[in-house]
Amino acid sequence: MEKFVINGGIPLRGEVTVSGAKNAALAVIPAAILSQDICRLENVPVSISDVNYMMKTLKYIGAGVKLIDKNTIEIDSRHVNSYVISHDMTKYLRASYYFIGALLGRFGRARVAMPGGCYLGPRPIDQHIKGFEALGAKVSVEDNAIVEAVAENLTGSPVYLDMVSVGATVNIMLAAVKAEGLTVIENAAKEPHIVDLANFLNSMGADVRGAGTDVIKIRGVENMHGCTYSIIPDQIEAGTFMVAAVASKGDVLIKNVIPKHLESISTKLIECGATVEEFDEAVRVSMDSRPGKCNIKTMPHPGFPTDMQPQMAVLLSLAKGTSIVSESIWSNRFRYTEQLARMGADISVDGQLAVIRGVEALKGAPVKADDLRAGAAMIIAGLAANGRTEIEDILHIDRGYENVVEKFGSLGADIRRVYCVEPFSATDAG
Ligand code: UD1
Repeated sequence: MEKFVINGGIPLRGEVTVSGAKNAALAVIPAAILSQDICRLENVPVSISDVNYMMKTLKYIGAGVKLIDKNTIEIDSRHVNSYVISHDMTKYLRASYYFIGALLGRFGRARVAMPGGCYLGPRPIDQHIKGFEALGAKVSVEDNAIVEAVAENLTGSPVYLDMVSVGATVNIMLAAVKAEGLTVIENAAKEPHIVDLANFLNSMGADVRGAGTDVIKIRGVENMHGCTYSIIPDQIEAGTFMVAAVASKGDVLIKNVIPKHLESISTKLIECGATVEEFDEAVRVSMDSRPGKCNIKTMPHPGFPTDMQPQMAVLLSLAKGTSIVSESIWSNRFRYTEQLARMGADISVDGQLAVIRGVEALKGAPVKADDLRAGAAMIIAGLAANGRTEIEDILHIDRGYENVVEKFGSLGADIRRVYCVEPFSATDAG
């Protein structure tokens, strides 16, 4: 078992370089099998475990995956020979369900076990299924465990999403790029990684227009080819460093970012009293006093991202005054507040609303990472708190943050990964 040990209270200072976007990589990697060719992907956050599982899954269905350097991979999709993916491969992460769309696009057939991933409340896939069916696939879900989708001929069609869903938008795009005719996705998600996926598909010869707006038009093409493509920087990793800089009352230059993707986060940090300077591919974030309060409501892009909600709540725990955080995407995304309370935060949760009464300081404590972004929030809390914080269940953090100890360490943080023996349990007896 591993945990992070943080001795907090040190203002973060210096420069840090953000990795490629996890959520973009997780959509682009399965998309590579739509060409029967070789794709070279750059700026891939190779060492995070979600990306690792996606690469393993590629190998499992017959693709070749070669590591060219620490952030570049080559995917050889010429010999992909299976449309079946078992639970062993899908159970670790949500994005494994993108193989349904990609395999449908490639073979007209997919049999993929239901995905795992962070528990944030029920995570239905009805909109994905509705999209596949609109394109002519017959879809069945066996025992709520395996999705089987089969299409004689995928045919372009209008698809109206009942709610803005990143996952459904990605999956329908993947299934539609080689379908015959025009697919129009209405009420599509507009997240930066949707645009990145569209750019990648177009680099492979697809015809996808309108990504980044709420109407995406996809004209099916017969063949796609290999390409070289660089993944966009990670908006959420960048945002996590931004909030950490402010919460620790530091001064950090965050490099390899697209400032436009960070606007909703920058705006809220400025509202709290931080200074945010934008450069072409960097932002500098600094703060020298106690933050002010602000209210947040999570929304699909370009609104405030749900994936930044826990990190921002840590900052607001230290703010002067009372802030209200409203979570409009997930029904169960405040579990981490119990951990924060152990560190002295004063938060009451009522359904999808949290009322945060700012305290002057947090104190170090043993806590755990309930999920990926909750884990990021615990790191920020530990960095800002007085004393020693130990974070357990860090496997969640390793799913989405590349070299997190090294990166925070380079900013002056006292953070270590330590190995510890598993606690003695009843099954160890005798
Ligand atoms: C969502 C976030 C994404 C974040 C990820 C992990 C949005 C729009 N999406 O993406 O930014 O990175 O969580 O935190 O902010 N839904 C259905 N039926 C479906 C699909 C979705 O009811 O078929 C609902 C979900 O329950 C949820 C909402 O739609 O309430 C958004 O889901 P979706 O965008 O698909 O989730 P992710 O792709 O995981």
